[in-house]
Amino acid sequence: MAGPKTPDDALGAMAARIRATVDADVPGFPHYADTGTGAWTTTPDGFWTGGYWNAMLWLGGAVFDDAALVAEARRWTERLRPRIGSESVFRGFLFYYGAALGSILHGDEDARDLALAAAGRLGGDFDPRLGLIPLGAQAEEAHTVGADEANIDGLAAVPLLLFAAGAGGGAGLRDRALRHTLRSAELCIRDDGSVVQSVSLDPDTGAPVRTYTHKGVSDSSTWTRAQAWAMQFLAHAARCMPEQTALMDAALRVTEWWIANAPNDRVAYWDFDAPIDHDTRKDSSGTAIAATAILKLSGTVADPDAAARYRRFAEETLLTLAASHLTPVAPGDRRPPGMLTNGCFDQRSGVALANELIWGSYYLLEGLAMLAGRLETGRI
Ligand code: GLY
Repeated sequence: MAGPKTPDDALGAMAARIRATVDADVPGFPHYADTGTGAWTTTPDGFWTGGYWNAMLWLGGAVFDDAALVAEARRWTERLRPRIGSESVFRGFLFYYGAALGSILHGDEDARDLALAAAGRLGGDFDPRLGLIPLGAQAEEAHTVGADEANIDGLAAVPLLLFAAGAGGGAGLRDRALRHTLRSAELCIRDDGSVVQSVSLDPDTGAPVRTYTHKGVSDSSTWTRAQAWAMQFLAHAARCMPEQTALMDAALRVTEWWIANAPNDRVAYWDFDAPIDHDTRKDSSGTAIAATAILKLSGTVADPDAAARYRRFAEETLLTLAASHLTPVAPGDRRPPGMLTNGCFDQRSGVALANELIWGSYYLLEGLAMLAGRLETGRI
C-alpha cells in the first residue's frame, strides 16, 4: 500500500477518518471497522475499547485545533458514565483514554470528575491478598476464566490511578498503582523479557498457580499485545514514578525484547510464535501500542544513546505503519482515507482479524502527533 510517507501527511489522513466517523453518526462506540468500506462495528457501552474513540476526539481536537472534535469528545465521554462501577480492571482503558485525556489536554472539568469517580471505584478493587487488581467479573475475558485472574492487559489501570492520584483523587491510589504494576510485572514478565498474558493465583495465598494466554497461540507463546501493553504501561509508570527504579528496569527489559524480536519490516505478527505463512495475520494495533511506548521511553530513559536508538526505532515503526498500512488520501483509492488496516483483534475467536481497530488507530495518532512535534512526548 502506498500510504502517507510523512507524519504530517499521515495525520491529515487520520483527521479525515475521524471527521468521517463523526459524520457517520454511529449508534455506539466504534470498535473495529471493515477496511474495504470503513463501516464500523460498534459497542453500546464501550466494551473495553470505547474510550479510545473519545481519546481520538480529545487528541484530534488538540492536534488539529478543532473545537468541533472537542465538543464531540464531551458528548461521548458522558456516555461512559454508566460504566463507572463496572466490575472490570479494563475501566483503566475506558476512563484514562476516554475521560482523563479531556482534563489533560483541554482542562475539561467534567471529564476530570468522571475519571476521578471511576478511578476511586477501580482503586477500591485492589485485592491485598492477590497484591493487585484482578480482572473483575465484567472484564472481557472473565466470562471464560473467572474474575480473580491476573492479566497484563490489566496494567491499563495504572495511568488512570496515577492521573487520579495527581488530581486530588484520594489517598492511596498512587500506592495501589505502584503495587499493581510491580506485581503484574513480577507475574507476567518472563526471565528473557517476553510477557505472558495471564496468571491464575491461589485465592488463599495469592501465589501464582499457572500462566497462560486468552488470545495468543499457546500458553508459552508471546501474544503481541501482551508484550505491547506491558511496554506501554510500564513506560508510563516509569515516567510518573521515576524514584521507583524497578519500573524503568522492567520497562527496558520488555522493550529490548520487542526490539530484538520484531520482524525486519517492524510490523509484528499477531503472536511472536505464530507459524509464519502467507495467511499469518499482522497486528498493526499491537505494533502501534509498542511503537508509541518506545517513543515515550526515549523521552524518559537516562542514557542518551538508548534514547536516540529508541527514537529511531519508534520513528521507523510508526512511519512503516503509515506507509504500509494506513489508507491514503488518493483519488484512485476507493477506501476511506486514514484507516489503520491489518489490526488483529482476536485470532482465536476469529473476530476482526484484519481490520481497523479503534485502539490501534489511537496509538498511531498519538505516536505521529509526537513525531510531528504536535504533542509533547510523555504528556499522555
Ligand atoms: N484485552 C485487551 C486486548 O485484547 O488487547
